[in-house]
Amino acid sequence: MAKLLIEGGVPLSGDVPVSGAKNAVLPILAGALLADGVVRIGRVPHLQDVTTMMELLGRMGVELALDERLWIELDPTRLREHVAPYELVRTMRASILVLGPLLARWGRAVVSLPGGCAIGERPVDLHIKGLRALGAEVELSGGYIEARAERLSGTRIVMDLVTVTGTENLMMAATLARGTTIIENAAQEPEVVDLARFLKRLGARIEGEGSNTIIIEGVERLSGGEYEVLPDRIEAGTYLVAGAISGGRVKVTGVRPEHLDAVLLKLREAGAELAIGTDWIEVDMRGRRPRAVDLTTAPYPGFPTDMQAQFCALDAIAEGVGLIRETVFENRFMHAQELRRLGADIAVEGNTAIIRGVPRLSGAPIMATDLRASASLLLAGLVAEGTTVVDRIYHLDRGYERIEEKLARLGARIRRIR
Ligand code: EPU
Repeated sequence: MAKLLIEGGVPLSGDVPVSGAKNAVLPILAGALLADGVVRIGRVPHLQDVTTMMELLGRMGVELALDERLWIELDPTRLREHVAPYELVRTMRASILVLGPLLARWGRAVVSLPGGCAIGERPVDLHIKGLRALGAEVELSGGYIEARAERLSGTRIVMDLVTVTGTENLMMAATLARGTTIIENAAQEPEVVDLARFLKRLGARIEGEGSNTIIIEGVERLSGGEYEVLPDRIEAGTYLVAGAISGGRVKVTGVRPEHLDAVLLKLREAGAELAIGTDWIEVDMRGRRPRAVDLTTAPYPGFPTDMQAQFCALDAIAEGVGLIRETVFENRFMHAQELRRLGADIAVEGNTAIIRGVPRLSGAPIMATDLRASASLLLAGLVAEGTTVVDRIYHLDRGYERIEEKLARLGARIRRIR
């Protein structure tokens, strides 16, 4: 199994281009199922999760190709299957995103229940509840969600809690419903906005995306169309932390700085100097050790749970004590144990990690447990003295495009070994 070997201690320096956002491209690819024509998607990152989504769509009968610009071309008009099988859903929870589009466009969807995962229980009850409110018949049997509807009907849905893929599934389903759907307490993440903009490009009528109330006026059909995915704010944030943790100077390019406000605030508190342009951000630590920061994760525009693990790594070598509170997922501190193997002083009490910064970490073999946890281990490895070997890096390949190449370009001593 592939591993990453890192020789720590080099302050990173240079520019790194940011790829298309994983959590935007996955719903957009699923959303292509709604179209009556060919859909072309640009800035698709080369990630394992994208490959899984394409395999899933391909099995259903979506024809996939690359055009001359290397954009992905999807032709969903000759769909044969309405099933998302367990073997694919269990490798990628985001497969649940085909549920809404399949049901709305094809009247039927059979999607495996995702089951638990490394960061928490992660039920999909609100996806199901919302689809029922839109008039679908939904049954659970044999580990599968089986949903049917002649045509969905618009309604007002108040989400019990903020869910990103739940909002996306219901927004997609509502585009082809009869009448108006109002989603209250909707997720406001930039990836939800990107999906809405893509759907509008196909002819959907959506308002309010980016606020907590999204209004969707159902239409008869959606056409084909083209769309370029937004840059990945979590990838960008991860490289900025890499700059800060290593005492270096890193510029991320091709980003939307306004999507990173909560993260930039914490980097400033940690003592980083920031320069921000229209589509780039530069972090400069001037060789200093970061100061510990406290933070609490929350739905957007709060501090993203997908950046929590990376800040645990930063606090691990910072001056002072940092309190990191996770409120989105119930079990997202798997990285704490592995960071301790590098010498970090972290105690986890309930949903809070108490991190007493130590002046140095030392290299050790460690194991990745989920995508963002893996990123935090890699960041810690960049500053640990000696050699760190991170095992099970298939988690990283799910969500970071060519991560070792990008880090090596910044001067990190890192390589992939078998
Ligand atoms: N929840 C329910 N019932 C539901 C849906 C969600 O109780 O029906 C709970 C979850 O268990 C969780 C909370 O609601 O405690 C929020 O979860 P949410 O549904 O927003 O998460 P998600 O849509 O499954 C997406 C991202 C995650 C990211 C979260 C939070 C995608 C494909 N995934 O997941 O990304 O952490 O939103 O921002 O968009 C990652 O990229 O590493 C990742 C895990």
